[in-house]
Amino acid sequence: MIRLATRVKNLKPSPTLAISAKAKAMQAAGVDVVNFGAGEPDFDTPDNVKDAAIAAIREGFTSYTAVPGIPELKQAIVAKLERENRLTYAPEEIIVSCGGKHSFYNLAQALLDPGDEVIVPAPYWVSYPPMVELAGGTAVILATTAADGFKITPEQLRAAITPGTRAVVINSPSNPTGSAYTWDELRALAMVAQDEDILVISDEIYEHIVYDGFAQRSIAEISPEMKARTIILNGVSKSYAMTGWRIGFTAGPAPLVAAMTKIQSQSTSNPTSISQKAAVEAYNGPQDFIARVLPAFRARRDFIVRTLNEMPGITCFNPVGTFYAFPAVHGLLGGAVQDSLSLADLLLNEAKIAPVPGEAFGAPGFLRFSYATSMENIEKGMERLAAAARRITGGA
Ligand SMILES: Cc1ncc(COP(=O)(O)O)c(C=O)c1O
Repeated sequence: MIRLATRVKNLKPSPTLAISAKAKAMQAAGVDVVNFGAGEPDFDTPDNVKDAAIAAIREGFTSYTAVPGIPELKQAIVAKLERENRLTYAPEEIIVSCGGKHSFYNLAQALLDPGDEVIVPAPYWVSYPPMVELAGGTAVILATTAADGFKITPEQLRAAITPGTRAVVINSPSNPTGSAYTWDELRALAMVAQDEDILVISDEIYEHIVYDGFAQRSIAEISPEMKARTIILNGVSKSYAMTGWRIGFTAGPAPLVAAMTKIQSQSTSNPTSISQKAAVEAYNGPQDFIARVLPAFRARRDFIVRTLNEMPGITCFNPVGTFYAFPAVHGLLGGAVQDSLSLADLLLNEAKIAPVPGEAFGAPGFLRFSYATSMENIEKGMERLAAAARRITGGA
């Protein structure tokens, strides 16, 4: 009776959210599943941020706000970009949306006409291709390998550019690989973007979660010319453990931001008033949260990567950032288990652990393990995985 739009028939639901939901449902049914699917910090939002939101409610800050965000929050973002990224933006170059995902969604809607191409390096965050396609654009996937550090080269970028190319997405540090581009690598990619006159969509949402002194930089820092062709996506979700608050932002050229504002005005109107006040405190208040949680993330990364590399059939790239490990599991495939999708299924149903299969990120043959969960869970999950790997490879 209900005929759905073609666009939704072709749309796949987010596989990461689906796996997490299945693992949570099994847990609710009493099954002892170790969930490695989480795309969010396992820490609570800092108290100062919560208090700011409570105060906002008490003060009755509960009405519609300006479409692109309250001036106070835009100012806090301008100050953050200046302080942390050495970038000067005007308030009209900033739009706050309902999470980083919504920022990318609005951007794609504002930027793309049918046939426009966006280059998306794989492994990619699950939502880039669907959001490009929902806007009528085409996602051109560029494969990378663990041997290349999961990074595209300037030559690869240049070869992928066609007259239809509008932009390339650079997600550094990357979900799902934890890889990040060095300053020199960013400079080399920027030269290509400038030569070929394309935009760079720089998703910097994991910028604070980096290890071993990695020097995290934005490609927009390279030059004023580069800043003019870069669109920065960021938000409070990962840096301040605020995924449920739904606050993300875009910093970019004013005409593009105005176009995104028009789209937002006809869809969500504005991000939640209370969350905006919380985000003001996140950006303007004490900045010690990441420093407090980073040692735990680093200890977990060290443990999980070392343990994965000790297992038969598994090799894991050492991520420099994020809270994901992205091991290659080719050595477990080909026999009883044909691909990483079936492997993830088997691991969930038999070993009771829930990683996300690489297929979700355009990278079959890999699994993503989020270590945004306790060390106890990680140890238990790794024991189960090691036993499964031994069984599959015939070692036990
Ligand atoms: C690479 C990347 N970008 C953007 C987002 C969006 O985050 P949110 O919409 O929760 O702010 C995520 C969340 O998983 C992500 O991994």
